[in-house]
Amino acid sequence: MPKDIENRDDIVLLVDNFYANVMTSPTIGYFFSDVVRVDWSVHLPKMYAFWETMLFDKRTYTQAPYMPHYDVNEIQPLTEVEFNEWLTLFHESVDEYFVGKVAEKAKLKAISVAKVMMRKIHNLENFEFENFKNMK
Ligand code: HEM
Repeated sequence: MPKDIENRDDIVLLVDNFYANVMTSPTIGYFFSDVVRVDWSVHLPKMYAFWETMLFDKRTYTQAPYMPHYDVNEIQPLTEVEFNEWLTLFHESVDEYFVGKVAEKAKLKAISVAKVMMRKIHNLENFEFENFKNMK
């Protein structure tokens, strides 16, 4: 019986499942294994904190998420194609395990953070993801 995202354990389940799928994605998996050799023992706790902060106002993540992506983009461009894949996989992981208000909030937050990343990285005044435009 699907339930909403309610606590840190739920976030751990969501984030772990999401990155397991990211790693097998031909479109973005190599960003984490080759472009940057991500140290998962550092990255995963950061992502748990990030989502805790986004969804539960917990303030456990106090960095700016944008900076590392400028550096990634310098090595290998982060375009709409890669962001679309990231968002699709994230939404799939949310929908696989959860249903409810917080689950919807997670999907919308992911879109809005990705949108700001695209704008900042590529210096765009405005940018919308065509594939996710109708999500309100
Ligand atoms: C194509 C899309 C994306 C790719 C390929 C990507 C890749 C990466 C990589 C490789 C890192 C690790 C950087 C490092 O350790 O030096 C990272 C960090 C991070 N990413 Fe992404 N990312 C993407 C989109 C997003 C989106 C949409 C979000 C949020 C909704 C996000 C949130 C974060 C956060 C919070 C960190 C940790 C930053 C820190 O060190 O404080 N990423 N990402």
